[in-house]
Amino acid sequence: MPTTATATATATAVSRPGVQPPFYRAVGDEAEVFRAAACQGLPVLLKGPTGCGKTRFVEAMAHELGRPLITVAGHEDMTSADLVGRFLLKGGETEWVDGPLTRAVREGGICYLDEIVEARQDTTVVIHPLADHRRELPVDRLGTTVPAAPGFQLVISYNPGYQSVLKNIKESTRQRFVAIELGFPPPDIEREVVAREAGVAPEIANSLVLLGDAIRNLEGSPLREASSTRMLILAGALVAGGLNLRAAVRSAIIRALSDDPDIVRALGELADAVLPSS
Ligand SMILES: Nc1ncnc2c1ncn2[C@@H]1O[C@H](COP(=O)(O)OP(=O)(O)OP(=O)(O)O)[C@@H](O)[C@H]1O
Ligand SMILES: [Mg+2]
Repeated sequence: MPTTATATATATAVSRPGVQPPFYRAVGDEAEVFRAAACQGLPVLLKGPTGCGKTRFVEAMAHELGRPLITVAGHEDMTSADLVGRFLLKGGETEWVDGPLTRAVREGGICYLDEIVEARQDTTVVIHPLADHRRELPVDRLGTTVPAAPGFQLVISYNPGYQSVLKNIKESTRQRFVAIELGFPPPDIEREVVAREAGVAPEIANSLVLLGDAIRNLEGSPLREASSTRMLILAGALVAGGLNLRAAVRSAIIRALSDDPDIVRALGELADAVLPSS
C-alpha cells in the first residue's frame, strides 16, 4: 500500500568520511575486534549503558575504514518498511524509495541500528539473511533480493540496563553477531575524554570523573542509569560556558538523574563530599 511522500517515520543520519576523524579513545580491544569483524564482513552487536561512547565508537570506526555510516534510531513503531523502503506517492505516480538499510546494503556502508530492541518483531526478519553468510536483503515488495556490496556491515546496539534480554532478537540471529561490550572508561581515560570533549582544565575533568565514579559505585543505588560519560561532559561544558562547578553538577548530573527530592538531596551531599570546596 503506497503512502504519501511525507509519511516516512524513521530518523536516520548519514555521515561520510570527512577530513576530521571523530575523537574516540579506545578502552580495551574494541577497535581491534571491530576491524577484524569489518574485514570479514561480520555483523557486530554493541552493548553498553547510555552515554558510554557506542555511537562515537562506530563513527570513529566508519571513518577509519572509509565507509559511509548510516545510522537508524530504533523506536517501538519502527517496521521493516522503515528499514527496507516503501512505495511513495509522488505527483500521482508510485515510486519506490530505498530505506536506510537498503541504501547501506547497496553502497557497501555501515548500517548502525541504534536500540534495535525497540523495533517491532518484523524488522528482525530482514536482518537475519544479512547477518549470516548469505549477506543479502530480501525486498519482498519489489520481489527481489539485494546482495550486500563489499564493505556492507551491520552494527546493532542495545542497552542491557533497559532490556534484560534481547527480547525481539532471536537467539539464532544473536549468535551470528560479534559482541562488543562497552562500559564507562576507567578514570584516566574518562578524564582525558571529559577534558577534551568539554574543553575544561584537567582538574575540573578530574573532579567530574571522581563524582561520576562515586555515583556509579553507590551501594543499592535507586538510579535507573548511572552518571554517564556524556553527563560528565555536559557538566564540563557548562563550566566551560562560565558556570561554577557545583551549579554545573546540579544541572547536568544531579537533576538529570532523578526527580525524587530525597535522591536529589543525597546526590547533592555526595557531590559536596567529593567536589573540592571552592
Ligand atoms: N572512549 C571515548 N572516547 C571519546 N569520546 C567518548 C568516549 N566515551 C564516551 N565519549 C563521549 O561521550 C559522549 C556520549 O557518547 P555516545 O553518544 O557515543 O554514547 P552512546 O553509548 O551512543 O549513548 P546512547 O546509548 O545514549 O546512544 C560522546 O559525545 C563522546 O564525547
Ligand atoms: Mg548512541
